[in-house]
Amino acid sequence: MTAGWMYDQWQRPMRDLRISVTDRCNFRCTYCMPKEIFGDDYAFLPKHKLLTFEEITRVARLCASMGVKKIRLTGGEPLLRPHLDELVRMLLQIEGIEDIGLTTNGLLLRSQGEALYEAGLRRINVSLDALDPDRFAKLNGRGITPDVILSNIEWAQSLGFKIKVNMVVQKHVNEDDILPMAAHLKEKGITLCFIEFMDVGNDNGWSMEKVITKRELYEMLNTVYELEPVDADYFGEVSKRYRYKGSHTEVGFISSVSETFCSSCTRARLSCDGSLYTCLFASEGHDLKEMLRGDAGDQELLEAIRAIWEKRTDRYSDERSLLTQSRKKINMSYIGG
Ligand SMILES: C[S@@+](CC[C@H](N)C(=O)[O-])C[C@H]1O[C@@H](n2cnc3c(N)ncnc32)[C@H](O)[C@@H]1O
Ligand code: SF4
Repeated sequence: MTAGWMYDQWQRPMRDLRISVTDRCNFRCTYCMPKEIFGDDYAFLPKHKLLTFEEITRVARLCASMGVKKIRLTGGEPLLRPHLDELVRMLLQIEGIEDIGLTTNGLLLRSQGEALYEAGLRRINVSLDALDPDRFAKLNGRGITPDVILSNIEWAQSLGFKIKVNMVVQKHVNEDDILPMAAHLKEKGITLCFIEFMDVGNDNGWSMEKVITKRELYEMLNTVYELEPVDADYFGEVSKRYRYKGSHTEVGFISSVSETFCSSCTRARLSCDGSLYTCLFASEGHDLKEMLRGDAGDQELLEAIRAIWEKRTDRYSDERSLLTQSRKKINMSYIGG
């Protein structure tokens, strides 16, 4: 079924759908789910409020009929959701979906990796913020050391997965890990993507002083390596990519704070309980679950999604400097990073 592309108020099509499959996580990263807030008594969503795989697939299918081509499974920690391979299988059957990726902290890769590969998943982004054991243990809030994640990455590569590593960088926190991470992953031939620390959610103590910008990162790397730019693979690619000269290994930068990319943002986000968000920094989502669990037919649901997208005006990052102090935002673990 194709229902025709839809465009928002700034003529941006919807091309990517990021799906949060759970709001729970086995880490407590200081910049995402700090343990002071997400403590033992934190009220995560009860199971019946999470979208089922059938409900997720239905939304994805309708979005694909209106132009979505890429899907990313995320969370929370997506590998906490049992039988994720079933969802991958269902999503890969949707006409028009060209690519499915998974973003994970990598701790549980061995529990679902084989099944996911068999289901057809090929690309995994693993988040790893430091090589220094103490620093990483502190950053993830659970005392996990980087060797565990690195060994899981190697294991996943041996299965055939294409792995990229994401690193969120913060001033005075993991600055000293930037060059060691670049050296280590370059040697392994793994793409490293630096992510500027973002003001998502309300709990991570973000301030501009803690952001290490893409320019600063680039300059730091450039003191050691010669980098050459790589062309974007597709419209709306958020990572600015470079190649270490003389090798095939790439390094990327997601500069959503210092060099915003709202004008080419083609992403929608489906929260784990069925709200559609048109921006990572949105204050509110649009509930689809009631329709999904009511008697709405596909056409009605499709029109609802289209109406949400066609009204979209978000360009939060572009406007950040004016708004950041005053706006309530949604936590990334819920909406999907
Ligand atoms: C919310 S996580 C969900 C998936 C999985 N749990 C993981 O950590 O990869 C998705 C991505 O968002 C990044 N992230 C979370 N909070 C962030 C923040 N405040 N600024 C920048 N990136 C952030 C994480 O590092 C991770 O790469
Ligand atoms: S970044 Fe990922 S691993 Fe870390 S707390 Fe957030 S959801 Fe969990």
